[in-house]
Amino acid sequence: MIRYGIIGTGWITETFIAGAMEVAGMELSAVYSRSAEKGCSFAQPFKGAAHGNTIKIYTDLQQMAQQEEIDAVYIASPNKLHYEQSKLFLMNGKHVICEKPITIHTEQLQELQELAAEKGLVYMEAIMMLHQPQLAALKEAVSQLGRIRTAHIDFSQLSSKYPAYLAGKNPNIFNPEFCTGALMDLGIYCIYLVLELFGKPKDIVAHGQFLESGADCSGDLLFIYEDCHVSISYSKVGQNYLGSQIIGDQGTLTIDSISQLTGMNLHRPDGSIHPVWGDEEKNTLMGAEARSFYQWIQNPQQHQEAYTYCSRQATEVCRLLEALRKQIGIEFKEA
Ligand SMILES: NC(=O)c1ccc[n+]([C@@H]2O[C@H](COP(=O)([O-])OP(=O)(O)OC[C@H]3O[C@@H](n4cnc5c(N)ncnc54)[C@H](OP(=O)(O)O)[C@@H]3O)[C@@H](O)[C@H]2O)c1
Repeated sequence: MIRYGIIGTGWITETFIAGAMEVAGMELSAVYSRSAEKGCSFAQPFKGAAHGNTIKIYTDLQQMAQQEEIDAVYIASPNKLHYEQSKLFLMNGKHVICEKPITIHTEQLQELQELAAEKGLVYMEAIMMLHQPQLAALKEAVSQLGRIRTAHIDFSQLSSKYPAYLAGKNPNIFNPEFCTGALMDLGIYCIYLVLELFGKPKDIVAHGQFLESGADCSGDLLFIYEDCHVSISYSKVGQNYLGSQIIGDQGTLTIDSISQLTGMNLHRPDGSIHPVWGDEEKNTLMGAEARSFYQWIQNPQQHQEAYTYCSRQATEVCRLLEALRKQIGIEFKEA
């Protein structure tokens, strides 16, 4: 049994918990919130017979980290806090699954990866696509496209927080003090996908758009390879309805959601369309990463290769994000 706590009481944590409930052997045991009242109401639906567990509420993170009754933690706080919160729990012997971006700086990530290794703990970034069976289906479909010279990867999703920003409020996602913005929130998925499919580019051209707050709100990247160009667009201030396309001389693969790898179809030159993967509940999608977390904790030897691979990809993505921030001119007001 893995008894885990959560940090962050947003919808993404509810979705992770729902996903983790699909994994026999994972039990929600602790909730951290800055407000006891909020923590209690967040925990309420997860208590009781269906889950058979008691959930402790904490407003003191140190206290929660030191508790014997949890083995692990899921972190979904604002980006800026990921490093220090992950470190606190690793220092206290807890396994950590942390939302993307796992840290802001590569040296922070490497420090915590070393700390986790020393203590025999799992430390992983919560990136759905790496844990889903459809990644293999996608790669298989891409292998049927013939010679690929161009791909357009787009993750433009109008933020539900944008009206609040326009109304003069200061939501975390558009506040550089929290190390947020479009690249760190959505661009990261595009980069993960492109690294999976095409590997490291030999060159990158990158530009971004900024809000008055200083946060980047959209960006366009060109990943240049020897024989192929991949254009990446992402935005939090506008919506894409056409999805992404990987274009080869034997076919084109269309993808509705690149973060979830859903709605994927292979279009042949003869006009035929072959479904690669349909739609799935987000709970199930997050259940896959929860299952990896559980398996990596329970059977580290057996899953060493997958764990090492995902850790390396996380490091590569973190390094690329740093380089891109520099190129685009994204600056965070880190305290
Ligand atoms: N994988 C995915 O699909 C996905 C989707 C969405 C978000 N995410 C990631 O999840 C993380 C959280 O995103 P979010 O949009 O939920 O963030 P958020 O709303 O800014 O904050 C998340 C939680 O952190 C706490 N918090 C808020 N402001 C804080 C502050 N100033 N100081 C300390 N704690 C604060 C709040 O919990 P309390 O008030 O209870 O303390 C809140 O519920 C981000 O890293 C994001 O990238 C991932």
